[in-house]
Amino acid sequence: MNRFERVIQILDNAIGGPDASIGAHGAFWRGLTRDQLVARNVFALQVITVGQGASSNLVKALRGETPFGTDLPNPSPDARFPRMPAGLDPVVAQDIAFIEQWIDEGCLEDPLPSPGRDPGEQAGAEAGKLTGTYTYRSFLDLPDPVDNFGKLKFAQLELRLAVQPDGIVAGTLVFPAAPGTDPAVMDVSGQVSAWSPAHLNFTGRGRAGSAIADFHYDYDGVVLRHWETGISQRLTIAGTVLRAEDHGSGATLAKAGFTASFLAVKRDA
Ligand code: HEM
Repeated sequence: MNRFERVIQILDNAIGGPDASIGAHGAFWRGLTRDQLVARNVFALQVITVGQGASSNLVKALRGETPFGTDLPNPSPDARFPRMPAGLDPVVAQDIAFIEQWIDEGCLEDPLPSPGRDPGEQAGAEAGKLTGTYTYRSFLDLPDPVDNFGKLKFAQLELRLAVQPDGIVAGTLVFPAAPGTDPAVMDVSGQVSAWSPAHLNFTGRGRAGSAIADFHYDYDGVVLRHWETGISQRLTIAGTVLRAEDHGSGATLAKAGFTASFLAVKRDA
């Protein structure tokens, strides 16, 4: 079972199992691919906003947060619907948190974290620390000093990583997008080749059918030293990136072989 299938299982269990049926919108999550579920609307509300678990209507519905919660004590004046599943027991907080994290990390169809396969507690703890959202910045390796650090900028993206204790790395690199437009996304996959300090290798490929479908970059990074006496130090992955294949054509041709350096700084959530 992968994480997407586990989310479906949690929703099915909430209404009495995979064969239970309900009125209103029905079991709208069943029989869908990951992409179809992510695109799904229920009563004109988008169910999932990829990367934003807490503000996704699915999570709000299960927690009874506005616009849900008319059946809870002291409902907000903006609440329009009861907490879901309406009329049934609420979903346990741990399962809602699982769905929230799954959405935060890009709604991946990646393996479930399975403690049974841990090669060691250290790897498990390290994998947990590496999992999360980072601000990824890559820099041109110009040998001469510059008067403005902006001249070094190659890219600033959002990196979402899910790292398993067995070292499997999955995630996304999300490009900035204007409000209301879909961001360009590279899907990331790779592995941790060493723990403590962790060394990661992963590949990013533009999503099929998108404007960056021909993007293909390889990344190699290490987790930087944690200072015991440091204050509020962030987990940071430093590394180098290689353009593994040409992309674009004509004036926008970007040649394979180009390299840059990167820092990925972990965010709070
Ligand atoms: C964006 C998400 C959702 C929206 C907008 C939504 C909306 C609604 C609305 C308007 C009703 C009718 C309420 C009433 O009669 O008072 C309803 C009923 C219900 N919903 Fe949801 N819902 C959502 C998600 C969910 C989820 C995730 C579950 C299950 C885990 C769920 C389970 C139910 C159940 C069991 C009912 C009662 C259906 C019946 O009549 O048998 N809903 N929902």
